[in-house]
Amino acid sequence: MSAVERARRVREIADGHVALRGGLLPALHAVQDELGHLDPADSPTLAEVFGLSTAEVHGVVSFYDDFRTAPPPPHVVRVCRGEACQSVGSEELLAQVRDTLAGRADVEVGEVFCLGNCALGPCALLDGVLRGRVDHDAILRQVPEPPR
Ligand code: FES
Repeated sequence: MSAVERARRVREIADGHVALRGGLLPALHAVQDELGHLDPADSPTLAEVFGLSTAEVHGVVSFYDDFRTAPPPPHVVRVCRGEACQSVGSEELLAQVRDTLAGRADVEVGEVFCLGNCALGPCALLDGVLRGRVDHDAILRQVPEPPR
């Protein structure tokens, strides 16, 4: 998608949310869901539509960890650190996975707080798919080494 096409689509998405109270947040989510990330070049368009400054839009984007300003890597792992998952070892699992996958540019490892699957902890989102009773090996199977 060209920059012009992207700007046009961002404006369409923003226009669809501008009448909503607090519409900027759902608009940001919609842009990210559809276009993969919130490019810094999107901010002026969003600011114009919502009658804000570019700095205000950037402030919202940078405040929330869920927003990304660059395209995601091929694999995204989010280990749950909610209390139920902590009680069955998610903290140790997260540390172990971070250790194992350190230096892999194709994988992003992060945390999330409760996925609503507490009875089946430890839980994780593996490339957007909720998995229960995950362990180190299950996560590594989801993120095989890329071919060299
Ligand atoms: S605490 Fe992990 S799914 Fe609820």
